[in-house]
Amino acid sequence: MKIIKKASEMQRIALKLFKCGEEVGLVPTMGALHEGHVSLIGKSVKHDDITVVSIFVNPTQFGPNEDYLKYPRLFEQDIKICKKNHVNYVFAPSVSEMFPDGYKTFVEVKDMQDILCGEYRKGHFKGVATVVAKLFNMTMAERAYFGIKDFQQLRIIEKMAKDLNFRTKIVPCPVIREKNGLAMSSRNSYLSENEIKAAAGISKILKGAKADFKEKDAVQIIKKVYAGLESLPESKIDYVEMRDYNNLSKININAKKAVLAVAVWIGKTRLIDNIMLVK
Ligand code: PAF
Repeated sequence: MKIIKKASEMQRIALKLFKCGEEVGLVPTMGALHEGHVSLIGKSVKHDDITVVSIFVNPTQFGPNEDYLKYPRLFEQDIKICKKNHVNYVFAPSVSEMFPDGYKTFVEVKDMQDILCGEYRKGHFKGVATVVAKLFNMTMAERAYFGIKDFQQLRIIEKMAKDLNFRTKIVPCPVIREKNGLAMSSRNSYLSENEIKAAAGISKILKGAKADFKEKDAVQIIKKVYAGLESLPESKIDYVEMRDYNNLSKININAKKAVLAVAVWIGKTRLIDNIMLVK
């Protein structure tokens, strides 16, 4: 396994692989790898000739009062995980390599970037879309793997790839959960034991909503989920919303399929989760 720090070297290798007909799978990450990432890596290793894992804590997707400085950085551990899981290249550029002085170009996916998490994290998806577009160009990936846990991110990246004619196919991958149901996230490391117990309630509430969707309408479901999340210790809700499963647009009250997405703080940690609802 090779570790690459320079964008120009990543591009040179990607071009060489492309010319040899070798298909690259990209797993974009911010490091602090967990079982969720390992499952994305596994999918790429299975389907692609070459697997590239990018590790980059992207400053442009963090707001001024967010956890950029505190975000877990576990490079040595991540490298071991990548080696163990048959990754071919780790691309780990510095901030100045990705965003050198005088950097000016950003990608925005209008409307979709401003709803749900975008309402609470201004500029977040602009930072995500920009860095992912750069990674697609640098790696010339045939496929890129994204977890459904970050559902809005997944739909935004799909739209960006379509609108900007990227060749890269976006592969959505299932949410990987702890035994207690908590969706895996690098940010779970911020949680205390009691907070983990509280946070485990989120997925149980979402499961309940899935069952309720058979006979209840959107307003009733949202009310119940809201009350459930509010009753979790130390919780503060950012949003509970039901949206169109394919494009995140508003749905009508009697929709037959939707995504139920939530963002909730447990103590000082902001967690997101979602579930697909089908009648
Ligand atoms: O999901 C993440 O870890 C990040 O948002 C991503 C896609 C690697 C972009 O920085």
